Amino acid sequence: MAIIFREQTKQFYLHTDNSSYIIELLEGKIPLHAYWGPRLDNMPPLTTWKSSNFMNFNALDIPTSAGGDFQCAGSLPLELPTYGAGDMRQPAFHAQYADGSRITKLEYVGHTITSGKPGLEGLPATYGGAGQVDTLELHLYDALQELSVYLQYSVFPAQDAVTRSVRVVNESDNLVRLLKVASANVDFYDMDADMLHLHGLWARERHVQRVPLTNTATQFGSLRGASSHLHNPFFALLSPDTTETTGDAYGFSLVYSGNFLAEAEKDAFNMVRASIGLGGLDFAWNLNSGDSFQSPEAVLVYAADGIGGMSRRYHRLYRDHLCRGRYQHKERPVLVNNWEATYFQFNEEKLLTIAEKAKALDIDMLVLDDGWFGKRNQDNCSLGDWYVNTEKLPGGLKGLGDKLNAMGMKFGLWFEPEMVSPDSDLYRAHPDWCLHVEGRSRSLSRSQLILDMSRADVQEYVINTVCGVLNSAPIAYVKWDMNRNFSEAGSALLPPEQQQEVAHRYMLGLYRVLETITSRHPEVLFESCAGGGGRYDPGMLYYMPQTWCSDDTDGVERLYIQYGTSMVYPAVSMGSHVSACPNHQVGRTTPFKMRGDVAMSGQFGYELDLSRLSEADLALAKEQVAFYKKYRHVVQWGDMYRLCSPFEEPFAAWEYVAADGNTALLCTYVVAGKPNVGRKRVKLQGLDATAEYKVETDGRVYSGAFLMQVGLAFDRNLDHLSNVTVLTKM
Ligand code: GLA
Repeated sequence: MAIIFREQTKQFYLHTDNSSYIIELLEGKIPLHAYWGPRLDNMPPLTTWKSSNFMNFNALDIPTSAGGDFQCAGSLPLELPTYGAGDMRQPAFHAQYADGSRITKLEYVGHTITSGKPGLEGLPATYGGAGQVDTLELHLYDALQELSVYLQYSVFPAQDAVTRSVRVVNESDNLVRLLKVASANVDFYDMDADMLHLHGLWARERHVQRVPLTNTATQFGSLRGASSHLHNPFFALLSPDTTETTGDAYGFSLVYSGNFLAEAEKDAFNMVRASIGLGGLDFAWNLNSGDSFQSPEAVLVYAADGIGGMSRRYHRLYRDHLCRGRYQHKERPVLVNNWEATYFQFNEEKLLTIAEKAKALDIDMLVLDDGWFGKRNQDNCSLGDWYVNTEKLPGGLKGLGDKLNAMGMKFGLWFEPEMVSPDSDLYRAHPDWCLHVEGRSRSLSRSQLILDMSRADVQEYVINTVCGVLNSAPIAYVKWDMNRNFSEAGSALLPPEQQQEVAHRYMLGLYRVLETITSRHPEVLFESCAGGGGRYDPGMLYYMPQTWCSDDTDGVERLYIQYGTSMVYPAVSMGSHVSACPNHQVGRTTPFKMRGDVAMSGQFGYELDLSRLSEADLALAKEQVAFYKKYRHVVQWGDMYRLCSPFEEPFAAWEYVAADGNTALLCTYVVAGKPNVGRKRVKLQGLDATAEYKVETDGRVYSGAFLMQVGLAFDRNLDHLSNVTVLTKM
């Protein structure tokens, strides 16, 4: 059992293979955050520190009576800080009660420790059976307001991960209004730390930023109804000297796809309070008598071996204990998508021409993107009218799918089911089905509105429509898109006092729809998308094991995007395609080889008109597909090591080491050509120091120790912009 309760000291030890997370009940009542870091099997209770010289007790002034004088709680490290009962920092939990008060005071009443991990009702979450994960549930109670709060902790020892979530049960006869429910809060004492987070915008998602925490509060999140391009629902706290390979890294990742709030506050005693979950400007939830509320899950990972160590733990956990379905551990097909090849201007003949070229290259699947339905010949109509345009596809989806199957190709299809165009039969029939506020104009974005997924009738419509299409044709893959963010986020069915629930109810509705559709169609590989990577989060990965990384397919821009994405998300989840040049987003021209070498660090595919490629590029594409198929298991299931950051120098390098350790792929990229620079030395990681490795390109043999301590050198001129070097263990 990874969880131990020591009755005498009132301490809970949550042990992973390399770390410990320790909670202590102050005077048996208040759950204190005692420790999180490298494995620690014994710790003197925090309350005994007071009588030693070990700490500066100005900063940790623990009251002798938790029930009485609580005025010093302002500096206690708390597991779930609440507002108004002594703690003066930003709370993790905030509620308003029927008497108008906003004070919550929770005390321990009991706990359970079980093996395995229960699911979270209606929400995506990591999972695992007995022997893989253990769970602690702390039951806290506010006696005055008759409110129960359950703190849920699950420990994945092999991944050095602790997941946290919060369940609130209203046991009073009155209404409780929840205003903030963080999934996890950690109070670190006397900590100097940097915050690493992933920010961006459309076409430049998940760029890495690392900033020192100063004595102020740092806050970010989303109010967009999607986890968003702007801020990924993730951050890490790092010791100032932490690098890719050394030092403390504490990761916080939220398994959620909608509005969220992440905060880190450093107080005058250098205590850092970090939290992630629901809250912020427009969240409130009315909890009626007898009802319960489940927060999303936060996944906390500790690594002593730097940022790279943290990322590899997330990759393993999310591959093995978050993603699901038939494709979870299956190598994914290589596809060609017609979006950048044709946009809306296609017909069956054109698609079959691309498919024939693709087949000759041994590509597995053609994905038909936007424009196959209603009268959609540009992006201003027909979302919601999911019936095929027979002018473009005379034989319908089935006709096209059958022809592709007869050629030995699979058929994939794009949808944007959460949306409606004002110019659509659906909108004309149901103008109240979109998010809106009565009397206000409905702001358009990309000429579209958002369906109100909080409504059961809308959910049923989406389920029936998507399943209807999937049943009508041999569809092996779905790209599920979501191309705009919320405005006028109101629901016609909710009363005024529940309108602040809309954003979360939308997510619960969407998750119900995704659960239903993906379980009715286990044969389909689903890839999520939101204007590229606007909803690249663990919540979506629970239903759909891969995500379209970004609408920016430029080979150079993708280095930054994929490098940042790899902080949390495994390569097997990153949709990544070779597109045409000059690039449609940034106008840059990059060699075909480099575009392929970049796209191979993810779910490989093409997004261009193969029938317009030169013979030389076609020959190269054939080699790329064969190479990727031979080595994709290394990228998809191996361990990733980031070696050189494009954010630090105009050169990027990373490496994948196969799960069996027998093969490694070293990927190197020149970001910008510079005159007269020497060769770049790249030291590998994760190899067996005592083994010999053969470099397949030139047949030379080196020891693992040499490759890791001395490394290989690469040209940095324009003739050698990229390399994917294969190393085979002898
Ligand atoms: C979004 C997606 C693209 C493409 C278009 C179609 O922008 O990210 O890949 O599917 O929609 O309209």
